[in-house]
Amino acid sequence: MREFLLFSRTGFTSPNFRSLIDAGRLDIVYQCALMAIFKSQAHRQDVVFHAVLNGPPSPPLHIRISGAELRDAHIDERSWEEILRNVIAGKRHPGIEVDRKSFQEIIKQKHAENSRILVLSDSGKPIDSMELGEGALFVLGDHVGLPKKDEGFALRYGDKLSLGRKKYLAASCIDIVNYSLDRLEDGNKSSED
Ligand SMILES: C[S@@+](CC[C@H](N)C(=O)[O-])C[C@H]1O[C@@H](n2cnc3c(N)ncnc32)[C@H](O)[C@@H]1O
Repeated sequence: MREFLLFSRTGFTSPNFRSLIDAGRLDIVYQCALMAIFKSQAHRQDVVFHAVLNGPPSPPLHIRISGAELRDAHIDERSWEEILRNVIAGKRHPGIEVDRKSFQEIIKQKHAENSRILVLSDSGKPIDSMELGEGALFVLGDHVGLPKKDEGFALRYGDKLSLGRKKYLAASCIDIVNYSLDRLEDGNKSSED
C-alpha cells in the first residue's frame, strides 16, 4: 500500500465555508487528494490519502480516502467542495472515512503497522538514492510546510526524502512520488518478462 499524509495547518473543521480556498486552504487538500488517487480514467487501487485538518473550530479532523473504495467522485474542484463539505459535516461518502485522529497518532499507528515513514523535505536524502518500495507513508506539509514539532515527531520514526532542491507544491510532490514509484514498478515488471 502506498499512503500519503498531508498536514493541513488551517483547513477548516466546520462545513460552513464559501469555497475551498476560503476554508483555510482546503483547496490544497483537494489538489493533493486528486494527485494521490486519480489516474486517467481510473482510481489508484493501491493508494490511501490522509489529510489532518488543524483549522477552526474543532481540530484535529482526519480524512482518509481509499482509492480502491472511493465511488461517486469526479475530478473537478466543485464536486470535491461538495464532498469535503459533506464529510466534514459528518455525512457518509463511499471510500472516505473521517475521525478525530491527530497527525502524531497516525504516524504512531502507521509505524506500529510497519509502514516506512518518509517525510518529504527539500533538505532530505535524494529520492534516487533511496530504496523505495511499497508499504510507505509519505508525509508532507501544506503551503506553509510542516510545523517543526510535528516534523521532529515524524522523524523519530522515519527519514527525510527529497525530490530535489526546488520547493514544489504539495500536490506536485505527490504526483512526483506516484510517478517515481510507477516507473520502478514498470521497470521491475519488464525485468521479470
Ligand atoms: C509548498 S511546500 C511548503 C513550502 C514551505 N514554505 C516550506 O518551506 O516548507 C509543501 C510541502 O511539499 C513538500 N516539498 C516541497 N518541495 C519539496 C522537495 N523538493 N522535496 C521534498 N518535499 C518537498 C514538503 O513536505 C513541504 O512541506
